[in-house]
Amino acid sequence: MTSERLARVQRRFAEFGQEYAALQLYGAVARAVAGDAEAAALLLVARPGQARPVLWFAALHDLVLRHPEVPAARWYASVVGREHLPTGDPWPEVRATVMEHRGELTDLMATRSTQTNEVNRSVYLAAGLAIVGSDGAHHDDGHTPIALVELGASAGLLLGVDRYDIELVSAAGTTRLGRPGSAVRCRGEDRGRPALPGLTLPRVEGRAGVDLHPVRLDDVDGVRWLMACLWPDVPGRVERFVAARDLMLLDPPHIVAGDMVDAMPSAVSSARAGSRADVHVVVFSSWALTYVAPERRADLEAALEQLSREVAELSWLTAEPEGCAPGVRLPAPRRLGAGGTVMGLRRWRSGRECPPVALGTCHPHGEWLDLDLA
Ligand SMILES: C[S@@+](CC[C@H](N)C(=O)[O-])C[C@H]1O[C@@H](n2cnc3c(N)ncnc32)[C@H](O)[C@@H]1O
Repeated sequence: MTSERLARVQRRFAEFGQEYAALQLYGAVARAVAGDAEAAALLLVARPGQARPVLWFAALHDLVLRHPEVPAARWYASVVGREHLPTGDPWPEVRATVMEHRGELTDLMATRSTQTNEVNRSVYLAAGLAIVGSDGAHHDDGHTPIALVELGASAGLLLGVDRYDIELVSAAGTTRLGRPGSAVRCRGEDRGRPALPGLTLPRVEGRAGVDLHPVRLDDVDGVRWLMACLWPDVPGRVERFVAARDLMLLDPPHIVAGDMVDAMPSAVSSARAGSRADVHVVVFSSWALTYVAPERRADLEAALEQLSREVAELSWLTAEPEGCAPGVRLPAPRRLGAGGTVMGLRRWRSGRECPPVALGTCHPHGEWLDLDLA
């Protein structure tokens, strides 16, 4: 049993190493861990559903941020700065650090979970909201205002989507969504053929989230863990996270602590409070349903069905690995590799469900999207 689990963990590292081969540190380390049972086995302490390379990497990154004197630290742009990164093979020093601190690392892997709050996902969220908002009853600015509810919101940084400067770049030009000039800049490539038509964001009248372990933006340890979940290899990720944290700290959204199925109605009430009665409720999840057991995903679907009897305009937008969002099916030719993300949309209008839609696919951190609105 353990050997089967270990083989599965090693396979996941191999897939990660292949998928993210371009990352100097994480790509090389993932390939090395795939062939190193002792290093991979640390992850076996993870809670159900959490035994993924990203948790292993986050535990080590957290250690490195707390102890910048360990040998592995010189391979981390988040510690030494991108311009001081060495070249060569990071694995000998990374392995030495991992083995020396294995107790501390397994404590983290046993008690923490992946909470990556990736701000650049605002690219696919903004595109999804613009699409979702373009149908239904229209108000002054062309859209019904929305109450936005995020399930698995982590620290709630995506709930600030309308406060960020978001660029969607295609061969046809650049579409800007959100708040131009914001200190938080997100960017993604629109690979759709044809590119998305001119989009505008609906006005966000209320916002709230749910998370099993919400992170307060003024909690130093919690915020360091979120930074540790980011990949230091990718330029701009940590910087964008810090800018978003600073901005959202001025007016943080309410994040209900609890399970997304049980606490969803409470988050919806919180987001609707103070909004007009006919506000369009948009429930959203991004890389969160993937951590929820399939039978609980079905419970969530039933809870939304129930909610649709009270809310005239209800939409459920998902950006999740293939097969995680109930009812959302990609057409067969659009198969995805590991890390691929499917955007799905379920809509209820006056209590009746419209046909579910697979909008298309996107990069897990919003670097590109490829939507088909035909
Ligand atoms: C990988 S993070 C994604 C965070 C954010 N949605 C984003 O895309 O940046 C997944 C989040 O889902 C939360 N989560 C996992 N299972 C949950 C559940 N059953 N109910 C509520 N939150 C959950 C985790 O605590 C974590 O913060």
